[in-house]
Amino acid sequence: MKVPFTTELPDKYNRLIQVGSLEEMFSAVESAGSDVNLIVWRRGALEGDFNTLAECLSDSSSEDKSISYPELYLKSTDIIQPEDLSLRSDFSAACAAIYKDIKDLAELRPGDVEMHTLRSVGHHGYEEADIHDFHSDQDYWRFMACYSGLGTEWIKNEDSIKDDTRDGFYYAAEDAAHYHFQEGDVWLQSGEGLTGRAPFLHRAPDITFNEGDKPQKRLMYVADLAMS
Ligand SMILES: [Fe+2]
Repeated sequence: MKVPFTTELPDKYNRLIQVGSLEEMFSAVESAGSDVNLIVWRRGALEGDFNTLAECLSDSSSEDKSISYPELYLKSTDIIQPEDLSLRSDFSAACAAIYKDIKDLAELRPGDVEMHTLRSVGHHGYEEADIHDFHSDQDYWRFMACYSGLGTEWIKNEDSIKDDTRDGFYYAAEDAAHYHFQEGDVWLQSGEGLTGRAPFLHRAPDITFNEGDKPQKRLMYVADLAMS
């Protein structure tokens, strides 16, 4: 059975701060109380054909940390400038937008990006089935951007039930509201490494959301940040 979900952000949720820019996002994290585990910049859809770009990228879901794409690759030590890429014009705007996010993050938090990866995930989802269950990450603050497809699914901490058989895994309570990020969203989510702060509980979306004739790939940027 498909679980109903919303891409709206909850009102008056004390663990969430909404901001209007990357600068505000990192100011917010400095001043956030210990309740907060999610900081979101909902900027709306970006210009560029991200769906085409996602289709052109090889499915990276089975690869870990270091990815190599035929036409675009992003690694911590080797970021290609958009103008260096010989890309089809229908998705060069999308590449430029992603590159800008990566560059802006690196400039705002010099030295803090420990790992980053651009992920293109096919409609069949991740090979690691666990990622499709609600869990907390081990990382400290994780920076995410959703460019194409349905964004990460999440629940409020108070709507979760701990899975006693697996460390760091949870179930959604029966009446839990299920939220999803949307294209254009950028957010910071906290992991278990931040002691005293409840970790953000999330999962890769249920793959059945994407059944049909033209299943859509998900395209996102993920960066682990060395900051507490
Ligand atoms: Fe995760």
